[in-house]
Amino acid sequence: MRVLSLETEGFRMLSPARVELGEGVNVICGENAQGKTTLLEAVFLLTLSRSFRARTDRELIAFGAERAFVTGTVEAAGRERTVELCFEKGKRRSVKVNRVKKSAAEVSDCLKAVLFCPEDLQLLRAGGAEHRRMMDTAISQLRPGYRKLLSSYNTIYENKSAILKNWREDGSLLEVLDEFNEGLCRYAARICRYRAAFVRRLSEYAAPIQREFSGGREELALHYKTVSTVEDPLAEEAEIYEQISRRMRELRSAELESGSCLVGIHKDDMDITLNGLSAKSYASQGQTRTAALSMKLAERELFRADTGEQPVLLLDDVLSELDAARQEFVLNRIPEGQILITCCDEGSTRRLTGGRLLRIAEGSVL
Ligand SMILES: Nc1ncnc2c1ncn2[C@@H]1O[C@H](COP(=O)(O)OP(=O)(O)OP(=O)(O)O)[C@@H](O)[C@H]1O
Ligand SMILES: [Mg+2]
Repeated sequence: MRVLSLETEGFRMLSPARVELGEGVNVICGENAQGKTTLLEAVFLLTLSRSFRARTDRELIAFGAERAFVTGTVEAAGRERTVELCFEKGKRRSVKVNRVKKSAAEVSDCLKAVLFCPEDLQLLRAGGAEHRRMMDTAISQLRPGYRKLLSSYNTIYENKSAILKNWREDGSLLEVLDEFNEGLCRYAARICRYRAAFVRRLSEYAAPIQREFSGGREELALHYKTVSTVEDPLAEEAEIYEQISRRMRELRSAELESGSCLVGIHKDDMDITLNGLSAKSYASQGQTRTAALSMKLAERELFRADTGEQPVLLLDDVLSELDAARQEFVLNRIPEGQILITCCDEGSTRRLTGGRLLRIAEGSVL
């Protein structure tokens, strides 16, 4: 998959223009606040997801303008298509593919992108909630049906939480508790296997990337953590069900006492280690950045393994804090696919041995 060209008009502070993008690495270099991230944002919008930083479409429209246009010529599965987006104040965004009006869902396969932005650095330092969100977002893109599984789990979880909170006032609520427990364990067992399989594959792909990235110095490993009684989260569903259910019976009175759900996949987490040490506690800034990036690159590989298509890779401001060897890896050794990298240090771009260098100033690509 790739973006051949991008045109914008009235989009934030970008000057109206057409930008041609190369097949491999494209480095977008410029000083602060010149429009580098905005350019990545425009490409990301072509994947028909929400913007990664705007809360409303209105923010995308240039100050003083009525509407914003983003048009991209994209290539996927050997087919070239034109995706046109229009954002207009007080209206829903319009999407056209090859000049025909479409809904976002209909054409979401035109382009896929994997984005790395500075916020993703938090992933290594983050807690369970962010790790679960990361797993769920990635799995949902790879496995249709996973979202629905999650939302079924959450519905039961909310019902059970309400019972645990209110049973003292209304004892009859306890009559249905077992039924909810049973449902919760059933969905938990299935979600558990999805997450475990995903983390294992992500780890398998990320480890060699990190090894090469660090010149053979660092072993990255990811471990999935779930309900303590689950011995093997990849075992048969029935077995996992039994083990989660056992834990739930053990903690039944503790759940009633505390008024909250203590057992389930809503407490899952992911351990990230570098050379066997917890990355959260011990990784340096550069190591953190490298590992977070390795995980993103692994996600892209997973996507390719499953769909046969390499998503476009968007790297916002990844080069800072990296030493020369690691910068060189990002610029020249990420294998295949189209990559857009922003940076504000002209010096770093001297390490680029192939690819295309685009300079941007005051919203214009020079
Ligand atoms: N709707 C808008 N209309 C006009 N200008 C806007 C709009 N939205 C954002 N901007 C301006 O765009 C500029 C930011 O652009 P961008 O985030 O792309 O910079 P950048 O090149 O990535 O900078 P940095 O290196 O600091 O990350 C800001 O100065 C902001 O005021
Ligand atoms: Mg930026």
